[in-house]
Amino acid sequence: MNNATDLRATVREEYGAMARAGSSCCGPSTSSTNGCCAPAANPDALAAAIGYDAKELATILPEGANLGLSCGNPGAIAALKPGEVVLDLGSGAGFDAFLCGPKVGTKGQVIGVDMTPDMLARARNNLIGYTQRTGLANIEFRMGEIEHLPVADASVDVVISNCVINLSTDKPQVWREIARVLKPGGRVAVSDMVLLKPLPDNLKNAVEAYVGCISGASVVDDLRRMMINAGLATVRLESKAAYVAALTAGDDPLYRNVAAALPPGTTPADYITSMDIRAVKPAACCAPGCCP
Ligand SMILES: C[S@@+](CC[C@H](N)C(=O)[O-])C[C@H]1O[C@@H](n2cnc3c(N)ncnc32)[C@H](O)[C@@H]1O
Repeated sequence: MNNATDLRATVREEYGAMARAGSSCCGPSTSSTNGCCAPAANPDALAAAIGYDAKELATILPEGANLGLSCGNPGAIAALKPGEVVLDLGSGAGFDAFLCGPKVGTKGQVIGVDMTPDMLARARNNLIGYTQRTGLANIEFRMGEIEHLPVADASVDVVISNCVINLSTDKPQVWREIARVLKPGGRVAVSDMVLLKPLPDNLKNAVEAYVGCISGASVVDDLRRMMINAGLATVRLESKAAYVAALTAGDDPLYRNVAAALPPGTTPADYITSMDIRAVKPAACCAPGCCP
């Protein structure tokens, strides 16, 4: 596997190409295969299969905001309330950010952060369609890395993210950043790919599987440990087997190659799942005498 700097550059390059193509199925240009991050030849069908509301998609989402790059539905587990501040890590073309906007309303705010200039340009361009459809102007997209968030301490009510943290080359740092920017009592509502057990070495080192949100995924116990070490509490990790079935359905080249590289008699679903990842940043002073 390449070093962390090379990997990050590759991730940025590949997602930049997807943003320019406007589809997940452009395939990693540096790989020998024609894989996709998500097997979403039809992004709307994938969204429906992972629990998005077709009416919300039709009425809120600007054209081209759903690139079929998602592996879950973080907005559905975020229990957003009007007036809340939401931060979307790796916001891509703005898919989840746009769907969260009406939920937090005029007094709320959604901030999307992404490190890929072409994704950011696409998301910002989509803001016009969002405002036309909803009458709202409560979303902004910021350039940045999720390991160094361009967001103030203790300023966010809910951190969401959809199929992004697996792509980070420094995941403990991402979880520390999440804990830093959350207000005391703030919530984590993240969807991501997670490993049920370590992948065989041949897959661990495959760049296309890394860009495709598979080989960078954390093993579930490591994920829990990173979250707790960052200071988060009430960690709840829930496997969404139906989402994985939707992601692996069809004849996506990435999953076909992954399946071929696994030991005989095993399938991708034996190793990898999509998880709903929830946690809370404990209130600073939860009991008398607990303040420093
Ligand atoms: C699989 S796509 C998901 C996009 C979006 N969340 C969605 O569901 O449509 C991953 C996104 O994360 C961004 N990304 C990957 N690693 C990142 C990092 N370390 N910091 C910021 N953005 C990152 C990529 O540029 C890309 O837009």
